[in-house]
Amino acid sequence: MDSLIGMAQNTVEKTAVTLLGLGAMGTALARTWLAAGHPLTVWNRTPARAEALAAEGARVAGSAAEAVAASGLVVVCLLDDASVGEVLVGADLAGKDLVNLITSTPAQARARAEWARERGARYVDGGIMAVPPMIGVPEAGGYVFYSGSRDLFERHRETLGVPAGTTYVGADPGFAALHDVALLSAMYGMFAGAAHAFALIRKEDIDPASLAPLLADWLVAMAPSVHQTADQLRSGDYTKGVVSNLAMQVAGTPTFLTTAEEQGVSPELLGPYFALMQRRLAEGGGEEDLTGVIDLLVR
Ligand SMILES: NC(=O)c1ccc[n+]([C@@H]2O[C@H](COP(=O)([O-])OP(=O)(O)OC[C@H]3O[C@@H](n4cnc5c(N)ncnc54)[C@H](OP(=O)(O)O)[C@@H]3O)[C@@H](O)[C@H]2O)c1
Repeated sequence: MDSLIGMAQNTVEKTAVTLLGLGAMGTALARTWLAAGHPLTVWNRTPARAEALAAEGARVAGSAAEAVAASGLVVVCLLDDASVGEVLVGADLAGKDLVNLITSTPAQARARAEWARERGARYVDGGIMAVPPMIGVPEAGGYVFYSGSRDLFERHRETLGVPAGTTYVGADPGFAALHDVALLSAMYGMFAGAAHAFALIRKEDIDPASLAPLLADWLVAMAPSVHQTADQLRSGDYTKGVVSNLAMQVAGTPTFLTTAEEQGVSPELLGPYFALMQRRLAEGGGEEDLTGVIDLLVR
């Protein structure tokens, strides 16, 4: 009985996918769709990169236009927005469901959505929150932000979920890129803080490997503070639930700057953030959390 059900499931037809772009990311995506039994047509500017996939069952198209014609669902994983325009210039996109997974700015994504609409295609933009080894490995936690046509997303949710998790963030085609860049920007802030911390111990007899777990645990412990920030932003009350107010924190900054000086470390990463804290304090935000700094950043 079980094997009969299994056979029935195996014969359910999987959505055909066309994938343009077989770089590191495109190749990783391709393998997951092939492994899941989706008919896959691929195209890459440098044909040699398609050879291994052909051996694994992919159909290799002779041109981008031919690849686009092969499936209703067309996924693009080229280098950048300019390459998408170049590659799709001669393709007939009418009636296609176009999923653009390149990293772009929100404005580029919105313009590309309009460009697709003018050519008769439905459009969803994606922002990949993963590196290639995380693709097809659910426990690695990688996922893709999607925004744009909700109909397209719902229709292909299962197929799009094969390589990595899916998180739909709204009908505005720019929102996937915006969420992608927002998270990566926060990541760079974290990298900057960690760089400063390692610089502080660099000349001491402290093993970086002994600092690393302490640093990782501390960053994880501090991370949930973003929920309080969001709550304060929503309520407009930046003193709500404050534990360490801005006045207290600014009073502590000389300790950080003097320690950096003592250790022979440049304050160029910490300095700009401290300057913003100082400005908000001067404007009367002493009782607030650090949330007021966000308003200083928004021009
Ligand atoms: N790799 C990552 O960790 C990662 C993570 C998140 C998001 N992404 C995004 O995923 C996208 C693809 O990344 P990737 O890692 O696969 O990049 P990649 O390994 O550098 O591959 C780039 C792909 O774009 C093609 N390409 C570049 N310029 C082209 C042009 N003018 N015309 C036609 N094809 C062109 C390349 O073709 P050839 O083979 O002919 O050179 C190749 O297939 C990028 O937007 C990237 O930002 C990547």
